[in-house]
Amino acid sequence: MANENGNGNGNGSGVGAKVAERASKVWDDTRGSQAWNSIFRPGSIYRKGYTDSPRNRSYVIMNNVLYHLHPVKVKRHAVKVSYTLCLGGLSFFLFILLTVTGIFLMFFYRPTATEAWDTVKDLETVVAFGSLVRNMHRWGAHLMVLSVFLHMSRVFYHGAYKAPREFNWVIGIVLLLLTLLLSFTGYLLPWDQLALWAVTVGTNMMGYTPVLGSQVKYVLLGSREIGNDTLLRWYVLHVLMLPFVIVIFMAVHFWRVRKDGGISGPL
Ligand code: HEM
Repeated sequence: MANENGNGNGNGSGVGAKVAERASKVWDDTRGSQAWNSIFRPGSIYRKGYTDSPRNRSYVIMNNVLYHLHPVKVKRHAVKVSYTLCLGGLSFFLFILLTVTGIFLMFFYRPTATEAWDTVKDLETVVAFGSLVRNMHRWGAHLMVLSVFLHMSRVFYHGAYKAPREFNWVIGIVLLLLTLLLSFTGYLLPWDQLALWAVTVGTNMMGYTPVLGSQVKYVLLGSREIGNDTLLRWYVLHVLMLPFVIVIFMAVHFWRVRKDGGISGPL
């Protein structure tokens, strides 16, 4: 016979009560959990009840993401500027600088064949701090290529490409290629004579690749010849795709430095 819930087995309200009881237990457990308390407890973003002791100091370091980027202990030589010359750190700093100045430039630059050069000229002459920021971006790009190359030479000199760091060396090669590609795609964007002919030469060279040459060239130009489509294509590569990919590879690169036991030892 059907009960009031219409489920026919006569104990429907019992099941309903059990579900309600279970739901209320899950709710209580959730509210009592550490995650809930750390997210919703008022004032949870401040550290409370902290007594300064060596144990608590280590605890703070081990739980703070900013401190966590560096290991709790480092080898003495690893923090010596004369060992790494801080070239990897400098390359990373330049990348951040390029990102910040690049975002500024994006507010004014338009990637079309008719407007690109005019907007670059406006940046140089009309926009407040435009010339300064554009030059920071240009010089930063040149310096980054140089610092990445010098960093690679330093790593090579110390033999840090050997086991267990072979994988990180390969990640490094990809980072070098991505840095060069970022530099080359950025070179086109002012759409001046220099840029136009650099891209003509570059894409023609790729056009001579055996078998796939003309297809590769077509993909890079976005058309049969250099024009609006090429500019848009390279702009998207420069401001979106390549930075996105390089950030992922950088994260893996830094993670590997830690996992391979920190910076290699002195010679
Ligand atoms: C965007 C480019 C790059 C960035 C931001 C970067 C960043 C870094 C940083 C911060 C370190 C820690 C030590 C240091 O500063 O020297 C490091 C280490 C290392 N990098 Fe790079 N790197 C880049 C490109 C490269 C390239 C092109 C290579 C080689 C092909 C490479 C291979 C290595 C290796 C093997 C280590 C470990 C070095 C050691 O243990 O002594 N990296 N990188």
